[in-house]
Amino acid sequence: MDLESLLWLEEFLKSFQGAMLVISHDTSFLNRLVHEVLEIDQKKLWIYKGNLESYAEQKAVRLEQLKSQYAGQQAKIKEVEQWVSRFGAKATKARQAQSKLKALEKMDRVELPEERSTVRFRFPPAPHSGREVITMNKGGVRFGEKTVFKDLNWTLTRGSRVAVVGVNGAGKTTLLKLLSGEMGPTDGIVKFGHEVKVGYYAQHQAETLDFSRTVLQIFEGIAPEMPVSQVRAIAGAFLFTGDAVHKKCGILSGGEKARVALAKLLLSPSNFLILDEPTNHLDIDSKEVLLEALQDYQGTLCLVSHDRSFMAPLVDSVLEIQPSEDPKKGSQVIQLLSGYDDYLERKIKEAALAAAPKSSPKKEAAPTPETQVRTRPSNNQVRTWERERDKLETDIAAFEKKQAELHLILGDSKIYEDKPKALEILNQQRELEKKLGDALARWEEICTKLSSTDV
Ligand SMILES: Nc1ncnc2c1ncn2[C@@H]1O[C@H](COP(=O)(O)OP(=O)(O)O)[C@@H](O)[C@H]1O
Ligand SMILES: [Mg+2]
Repeated sequence: MDLESLLWLEEFLKSFQGAMLVISHDTSFLNRLVHEVLEIDQKKLWIYKGNLESYAEQKAVRLEQLKSQYAGQQAKIKEVEQWVSRFGAKATKARQAQSKLKALEKMDRVELPEERSTVRFRFPPAPHSGREVITMNKGGVRFGEKTVFKDLNWTLTRGSRVAVVGVNGAGKTTLLKLLSGEMGPTDGIVKFGHEVKVGYYAQHQAETLDFSRTVLQIFEGIAPEMPVSQVRAIAGAFLFTGDAVHKKCGILSGGEKARVALAKLLLSPSNFLILDEPTNHLDIDSKEVLLEALQDYQGTLCLVSHDRSFMAPLVDSVLEIQPSEDPKKGSQVIQLLSGYDDYLERKIKEAALAAAPKSSPKKEAAPTPETQVRTRPSNNQVRTWERERDKLETDIAAFEKKQAELHLILGDSKIYEDKPKALEILNQQRELEKKLGDALARWEEICTKLSSTDV
């Protein structure tokens, strides 16, 4: 889904009054919409109150607690095992040893989740390109009668990181094909700078892998002289660990294929990376890996992605392709002087307008009566309440988290040896309880108001 459609959907769902269950890898989308996160981890379902950011914080706390429980349990197990091996052989203690071992067997073992590989990806060295990486002079592409764009005068300088944006069908892929040299212009001139070494990730690149080879074979093929341990480490950096490296590419999921194809591209030396929707199919962790890698990239970067959280920290300029109704005229390509944040802000405003009940033809065409917007006191009022409710929910989650932390501290008898400190924490707890009570009361009030706006 392109950004425009996604933002429209987001606006629409924000004012949707029913319950909603969403599966998505788009962190911005989730952060703006959800009040609760369900995670399936270690074959269990975990429930976190709050949005995705709050989930990450809570999970970090949970993981810390789990680690200390694990360490405690391991120490206990070791102690029992040592006792049994020392005294178990003695006739007088044999029974006791048996029961100790039984208890160990019955013990609910604390298990730690698999940790993400901490290996950072490093780009292979590549020569510098000339200062002007690409120069277009009246560049244009036509397919028969249809003009995609024309008269494009544009220079891309070394080291720039450009986002190419626009709705689906605007011509982003066509422009990237020109930049990669995969396709020549039908009009005008496209000139490559000195020593430009292109790395191109096409929109459907992942489907071009050799499906009969395993992940490891592909990685080995990229750098045949590299020792296996290093190849494994690189595979780990792209989140392939254990037996996963022996899977054949043909049976990989979309996200896994994308990771292999990206690794293959990034491991080949280049000084101009052109990536066409590399984030499609990638989950949140994989996007994080790619983002971290690209942030270290020294070359020139040109990319298309509809993921805001991925683009915003990465790019420094925006090239917008605006389609026209007239197939002869083609899209207009505009270099925006402001950065990605300004572009995004404008898009959010446009989406809010498009999602407003009267001006939205899409919403009128909504399939069922349930999904239509109902008459309410005032849209603005409802939004204000919703925003307050969202904020309260985040606050409540934060208060509850802090409360759990304080409980943990107060549960340790040692804290009472330091009277002033204990007093301070008790005061904090009292204050927190008051805040939490107030927030919950206000939250209830707003929820009642919001539900009374339902028809
Ligand atoms: N090989 C082709 N033949 C005819 N039309 C094409 C071809 N490739 C792309 N187009 C058309 O050019 C326009 C731009 O496509 P594309 O560059 O893929 O857009 P985007 O990547 O922004 O979604 C679309 O209307 C598409 O249908
Ligand atoms: Mg495209």
